[in-house]
Amino acid sequence: MARSTAPITDLLRQHRPGHALQQPFYNDPDIYEADLEAIFYREWLYAFPACQLDKTGAYQRLRIGAYDVIVIRDGKGQIVAYHNSCRHRGSVICSASKGRVAKLTCPYHQWTYDLDGRLLWARDMGPDFDPSKHGLKPVHCRTVAGLVYICLAAEAPDFEAFAETVTPYLGVHDLSDAKVAFQSTIIEKGNWKLVWENNRECYHCAGNHPDLCRTYPEDPSITGVSPDGTFPEKVETHFNRLEAAGAPSRFQMAEGGQYRVARMPLLDGAESYTINGKIAVQKRLGRVPFLDAGTLLMFHYPTTWNHFLTDHSITFRVTPIGPQETEVQTTWLVHKDAVEGVDYDLENLTVVWEHTNDEDRRVVEDNQQGINSPAYEPGPYSALHEDGVLQFVDWYLARMRSTHLPATLAAE
Ligand code: FES
Ligand SMILES: [Fe+2]
Repeated sequence: MARSTAPITDLLRQHRPGHALQQPFYNDPDIYEADLEAIFYREWLYAFPACQLDKTGAYQRLRIGAYDVIVIRDGKGQIVAYHNSCRHRGSVICSASKGRVAKLTCPYHQWTYDLDGRLLWARDMGPDFDPSKHGLKPVHCRTVAGLVYICLAAEAPDFEAFAETVTPYLGVHDLSDAKVAFQSTIIEKGNWKLVWENNRECYHCAGNHPDLCRTYPEDPSITGVSPDGTFPEKVETHFNRLEAAGAPSRFQMAEGGQYRVARMPLLDGAESYTINGKIAVQKRLGRVPFLDAGTLLMFHYPTTWNHFLTDHSITFRVTPIGPQETEVQTTWLVHKDAVEGVDYDLENLTVVWEHTNDEDRRVVEDNQQGINSPAYEPGPYSALHEDGVLQFVDWYLARMRSTHLPATLAAE
């Protein structure tokens, strides 16, 4: 395993604008830990669609770096999250990756917690023991328009601006009416930033994604971030048509660039990500006014990009596993009353992104292997095709600099 020869502060100062990052950012264990500390342990992280926890007591366990988290639907119907560490001697309470429980009972000595986190029962702890001081430690948890986010920080950064921005866009997709049609979880042997860099451009699409390219435009104004704030007339016409019909669509990006939302056109005549370009689900999820309304693209660094379509929605979650290993979970959402085999064919629904994910896995793994060579030298991004990658890298560097070079920032 390669080790960085320069401290992260030097590497951050040495970054050459417009170029890929230096090798240690992609393979060094110390920088991986620094990424977890500065980003994944601080920011809001996408967990999964709320419909995944459909009943009281349904839970899902998440691993983020060293943290182990239980996300669970409580007795009031709210989705809440706790650290998966017993307040007795620290055992994990949920050892399965998901399930459904009436109470949270630790397998070690059976301390038992209510779904609201209160300790209800602990055997023979003596008269001085105060159960109220031994409830489960909460993790910040918010649901926005049917999507669950958590934050591991003691004090979470603001969530409201994001929630207020995206709620109107997501409203017409009715994710509260959704069910999970299919979920895939793959491991890409590449650093999490390579997964993101690959996602943020379609410069690679024509050469790698034959199925996706049947419906998704390679046009950089669709995938990228429009640094000058303008869009081609065709895209403006699309925004105006959708907005006039009640579907918020116009491009919006957070100050600082952590998230972006925009409803973008697909290729002419395309309705959804299928081989023939037609919708995959006859009982549609949401109230998007036209079948050719394109795709609502939403990303939120560092964990999620999404495609909300006319007939179904697809959410993606990025979880770093190690310096050169990243999990990508993809969830296909359809209307809860849509019947497989009647309203949709599962193969037809999932095949384009199953192929696309595998193609992306391959290019990310190839990218990682080439970067690991001592001969690797950061090359220039295409200003035309890779403005989205530049924007991601700038966001990443700003986060890391604010942690490791605060004095420099203050002086700028
Ligand atoms: S560690 Fe959980 S009950 Fe003892
Ligand atoms: Fe791709």
